[in-house]
Amino acid sequence: MITGTDYGMLVRQVGDLAQTDHNFISVMANTSALLMEMLEQINWAGFYIVADGMLKVGPFQGKPACILIGKGRGVCGSAWEKDETIVVPDVHAFPGHIACDSASRSEIVIPIHRTVGGELPEVAAVLDIDSPVPNRFSRDDQEGLEALVKVLEEQISW
Ligand code: SME
Repeated sequence: MITGTDYGMLVRQVGDLAQTDHNFISVMANTSALLMEMLEQINWAGFYIVADGMLKVGPFQGKPACILIGKGRGVCGSAWEKDETIVVPDVHAFPGHIACDSASRSEIVIPIHRTVGGELPEVAAVLDIDSPVPNRFSRDDQEGLEALVKVLEEQISW
């Protein structure tokens, strides 16, 4: 189980898994399984992938989730539109929050970028983690998960 600073180990594990094969579906599938296994007090961990101008649900662990999310909609669509991490301590206080699992009380969403040729990086997916515990995601969690996303950005082949 992860407490505090053990994110270093989790990030190394994700990096090792990603090096075996870089396919984004494979990497995301194993990463979501690892997150669900290693993080305490979470009920959903997975990815939404940008496709056809929408976010579409990708590999995840947890209850079945909504399939399509528009830009600017919910926490995921807002993180995509703003291109920034969003930490929601209380989902009931976030206007437009999309409830996939009624047990969810707090949430973190982190954009994942892809660089095509010499172009500027664009958001290609988001990592979404939900918790049944209010205010589950601390500054340490945010920094640890952002480090994990950086490894994904370096390793994933789209
Ligand atoms: N709560 C998210 C939707 C996805 S589920 O949490 C898996 C949101 O508001 O974007």
